[in-house]
Amino acid sequence: MERPSFYLTTPIYYVNSVPHLGTAYTTVAADALARYRRMTGYDVHFLTGLDEHGQKVAQAAEQNGMTPQDWVDTIAPKFLEAWKLLDITNDDFIRTTEPRHEAGAQQFLQVLKDRGDLYQGHYEGWYCLPDETFYTEDQLGENSTCPQCGRDVQFVKEDNWFFRLSAYQDRLLAYYEEHPDFIQPDTRRNEVISFVSGGLKDLSVSRTTFTWGIPLPFAPEHVMYVWFDALINYITAVGFGADGTPTFSGPLAHYWPAQYHFVGKDIIRFHCTIWPAMLMAAGIPLPEKVFAHGFLLTKGEKMSKSTGNAVTPASLVERFGVDAYRYYFMRDVQFGTDGSVSVESMVQRYNADLANDWGNLVSRLFNMTEKYCGGVVPAVPVPADEDQDILRIAAGLPDAYELRMQSLDYAGALEAAWELIKRTNRYIEDSAPWNLAKADETRGRLEAVIYTALESVRIAALFVAPVMPNTSREVWRRLGLGDIHDVTDLAAAAVWGGLPAGSKVEKGEALFPRIYEDAE
Ligand code: MSP
Repeated sequence: MERPSFYLTTPIYYVNSVPHLGTAYTTVAADALARYRRMTGYDVHFLTGLDEHGQKVAQAAEQNGMTPQDWVDTIAPKFLEAWKLLDITNDDFIRTTEPRHEAGAQQFLQVLKDRGDLYQGHYEGWYCLPDETFYTEDQLGENSTCPQCGRDVQFVKEDNWFFRLSAYQDRLLAYYEEHPDFIQPDTRRNEVISFVSGGLKDLSVSRTTFTWGIPLPFAPEHVMYVWFDALINYITAVGFGADGTPTFSGPLAHYWPAQYHFVGKDIIRFHCTIWPAMLMAAGIPLPEKVFAHGFLLTKGEKMSKSTGNAVTPASLVERFGVDAYRYYFMRDVQFGTDGSVSVESMVQRYNADLANDWGNLVSRLFNMTEKYCGGVVPAVPVPADEDQDILRIAAGLPDAYELRMQSLDYAGALEAAWELIKRTNRYIEDSAPWNLAKADETRGRLEAVIYTALESVRIAALFVAPVMPNTSREVWRRLGLGDIHDVTDLAAAAVWGGLPAGSKVEKGEALFPRIYEDAE
């Protein structure tokens, strides 16, 4: 049977700076979903990449005394390195300077022109360079600054090509109505609906005042507006325009429409108004869902490279390890809302959930298996009354987890896994294997307890794996099992009793050694 396809994307990141916690956040979240969907039998295609054109990137290159191409070629490896460090399993990495994208983007623009949705006009208005966004006078914020980021805007006056975005207002509103899941969470959906209801203006989609961009095929003295260029990456990456025609072709074509675009809340309008209108104009089906997450805040402020308060992902990985890094951001910040992050709270989370609950469970249990059972998994017991609670939680975990992941509630999904982990810790306390080991009559019960707890750990590791792939794989390895990353039927793998008796259990180092230092 053919596996259902599951195409998910992150935004493509600007190469004006190196990866930071904010960009890593979206990427880690998308990776956890990609891993989970692979474990639940989907044919996953996970795309991330780089937004390499535009005035902002050209300016960064100039400031660094390089040509734009040399600059993007210098920065691109830093993103690849960061994603490797964070164990990101993207299936593709698109750069908008690649021929496959440039050709596809040109095809796309040609279609819009042929269909009558592009026209020549004159633009006069304001431009926010850091956000690469056009604003009208009445949209500007306080002191005539960018309403989005508060920075200075520049006056732009150019002859441009325009996209007839205004013609799509009603069709977009009808689409939101008919597809209530298209924009998530609901607060964002309402925001987009009210924005579109207020009226849409046609959008300038070309620039002539600089050259770092994709030339319009029908007017090569114009380069494509960087947002127009960037959004098209989601289809060029899966074969749009690959054979020189404005259609999908090639082996990746079946992935479109995407199941998910992951974006930050600052770029929701591009993804929920401009992009769907572009697709409607080109006669291409729309993605299923756009999910906007919130901002990571430090001391109440958005964390970003330009505001200068960024701690690097690499420094945190060095200190906490990659799995703990991924866990912290997925567990401590509710995906979809803003969340404050700090090294202090990371230390706390780490010690409470990872060192105490999960790491401690694994190490004491594996030690007891060694001590009381010679390091061998005992026979599968007939469950006693005292074991029922664990069996019940384990049996309910696949559905509980799935339900949460459907709404991208990572914190809730992890909590569901933690219910099993915590209950197993309590079970060991209550059953006191160290007492059961004292007499021959309780030998049977001792083995039953050890088996039950080990099996629970085996199952818990499965559900922890999308967020913490390395330690879960290690837990399975120590249990003498195969590679957890090969699991493609999670529900079947999680059926109680999967741990074979006689398997050799290895003790090993602490998975999450306690961190004692202060935060700074
Ligand atoms: N290049 C565009 C996206 C084009 S997609 C067709 C862009 N790039 S970006 O590098 O500036 O930002 C990419 C993503 O990082 C955005 O989704 C943004 O929300 C996210 N983050 C940047 N700083 C952030 C935080 N402090 N917290 C969470 N995410 C934030 O926009």
